[in-house]
Amino acid sequence: MAWRQLLAGASLLWWLLPWASAIHRSDFPASFLFGTATSSYQIEGAYLEGNKSLSNWDVFTHLPGTIKDGSAGDVADDHYHRYDVDIELMQSLGTNAYRFSISWARVLPKGRFGGVNQIGIEFYNKLIDSLILKGIEPFVTLSHYDIPQELEDRYGAWLDAEIQKDFGYFADVCFKAFGDRVKFWTTFNEPNLMTKFQYMLGGYPPNHCSVPFGNCNSGNSDREPYVAAHNIIMSHAAAVRAYKENYQAKQGGSIGIVIAMKWYEPLTNTTEDILAARRAEAFELEWFLDPIFFGEYPTHMREILKANLPTFTSEEKKLLQYKSDFIGLNHYTAIYVKDCIHSPCSLNTYEGNALVFATGERDGVKIGRDTGSPFYYVVPEGMEQVVMYYKQRYNNTPTYITENGYAQASNSSMTARDFTNDTQRVDYIHDYLTSLASSIRKGADVRGYFVWSLLDNFEWSSGYTQRFGLYHVDYKTQKRTPKLSAKWYSEFLKGSPLKM
Ligand code: NOJ
Repeated sequence: MAWRQLLAGASLLWWLLPWASAIHRSDFPASFLFGTATSSYQIEGAYLEGNKSLSNWDVFTHLPGTIKDGSAGDVADDHYHRYDVDIELMQSLGTNAYRFSISWARVLPKGRFGGVNQIGIEFYNKLIDSLILKGIEPFVTLSHYDIPQELEDRYGAWLDAEIQKDFGYFADVCFKAFGDRVKFWTTFNEPNLMTKFQYMLGGYPPNHCSVPFGNCNSGNSDREPYVAAHNIIMSHAAAVRAYKENYQAKQGGSIGIVIAMKWYEPLTNTTEDILAARRAEAFELEWFLDPIFFGEYPTHMREILKANLPTFTSEEKKLLQYKSDFIGLNHYTAIYVKDCIHSPCSLNTYEGNALVFATGERDGVKIGRDTGSPFYYVVPEGMEQVVMYYKQRYNNTPTYITENGYAQASNSSMTARDFTNDTQRVDYIHDYLTSLASSIRKGADVRGYFVWSLLDNFEWSSGYTQRFGLYHVDYKTQKRTPKLSAKWYSEFLKGSPLKM
C-alpha cells in the first residue's frame, strides 16, 4: 500500500495509473442500490427549530461529561437547512439511493400524547421529493437511536411495553405521510448495539450500566438490555403488521430492520473457542433475527441468561408471524473471540454476557489493519463471512448492506487537507466491495450497499472526533469538500475501469 500513499499527494497521477485487481460496477446486478447513509441526530442540527421537541440525545449531550469532546448535535452538519446542497453531493457521486432516518421528536414531539407536527412532516416531504426528483431512492429508517425525551420521562422508554404503542403509532404516521413515495422502510437501526450501550455499558442515554464505562447511572444490566430488546422486537412486529395490513398492497414497498454484525473469528481452533464465536454471533445477530424469523430467542441465549431473557407470549408469537421483507446489515469489522466458560477471563467487554472475551489481537498480531477508531479493524473477508452466515441461517432473505465505512481520527486543529487524501478509505471500500461481490457470486441475495457516511458527522459518544464521510465537513463554515474516496466512489459508479 505504501506506494499508493506516496501517490495520494499527486491525486491526478493517482487516477491515471494502471492498477491491478479491480472491482467493477458490473460485478453487481444492474438493479443494485448503491448509496450513502446518515441519521437524523448525526446530521440535521436545528434541534430547537420547527416545533421539534427535545430528543433523548439532545438532553444527554447537554449533560457534562457524556461526550468525548463535550460536543452535541445541536448544529451538526446543519443538514436541516442544507439538505438540497447535500442531495447535489449525492447526485455528483452518482448514487441511486440514500439511507436516512426520521427524527421522531420532529414528527411527534410528544409521542402519541400530542399532535403530529406538520412542520416536521413538511421537512421530510421536501427531502423525499427532492431525492426522487434527482432519481435517488429514499431508504428510510424510522428509529436511529433518537426518541422524544417525553417517552423517557413518562415511562422509561424502551424498558416499558408502552413504547410498543408509541412506536406503532409513529410508524403508522410515517407510512401514511410518506409511504406513497418511500419504498424501503426499516424500523430500527442497530438495536443490538443500542440496547447494550443504553443499559449495559453506558455511553448512550439513559446511560445505565454495571460495567464501568464513562459516567453512567446504575441499572440492572443483567436484565434491562433484554427487556428493552424484547420491546423493540415487538415494536418492530407491530410496525410490520401495520405496514402489511394497511399499506403494502397500496404502496408497493417493503419493510425490514437493520442489525449490526461484526465477524467473530475463533481465537484458536479449539472446540471451545469455535463454540464461543458461535455464542457471540447468537448474542449479536440471532438475538433479534431469530425472534423475527423463527418466533423464538436462540437457545444459546436461553441457556446462559435463563429467566433474565423474556419469553414470548402466544399473542406475541402471533404478531411475529408478520414477516419482514429484507434485512439490513451494518458491517464494519471483525474480532477474535475466546471462550470464558472453560477458562477464566476478564469479562469486561460488551460480549461479556455471552461468556466470551473479544480481542483484536492474537500473539501480538492484530486481526486486521487499524483505522482511526479503536473499535474497528480492517478485515475485508469478514464481509463475505457475515453475508454467507446470514444467508445460510435465514434462508437467503434479501439483504442490504446498510452501512460500511472507515473512521478517521480527528481533532479541532486539523484541516480539510488532513483528511481529503483518504487512500485508506478507498482501499477499505474497494476491499469490502470485492468481498461482497464474492458472496453474491456464491448466491447471496444482496441487493444494495450504503457507505457510512455521506458526510463527516456527530459520532455519538465520540462527538466530532471520528470522521466517516466521503465529504469532509468544516464544522465552522459548514463547507463540504470531497475526499478522494468520494471521487473513487463516483468513478466506480460510472463504471470506469478502476483498478487498485
Ligand atoms: C453505526 C451507526 O448506525 C451509526 O450511527 C454510526 O455513526 C456508525 N455505525 C459508525 O460508528
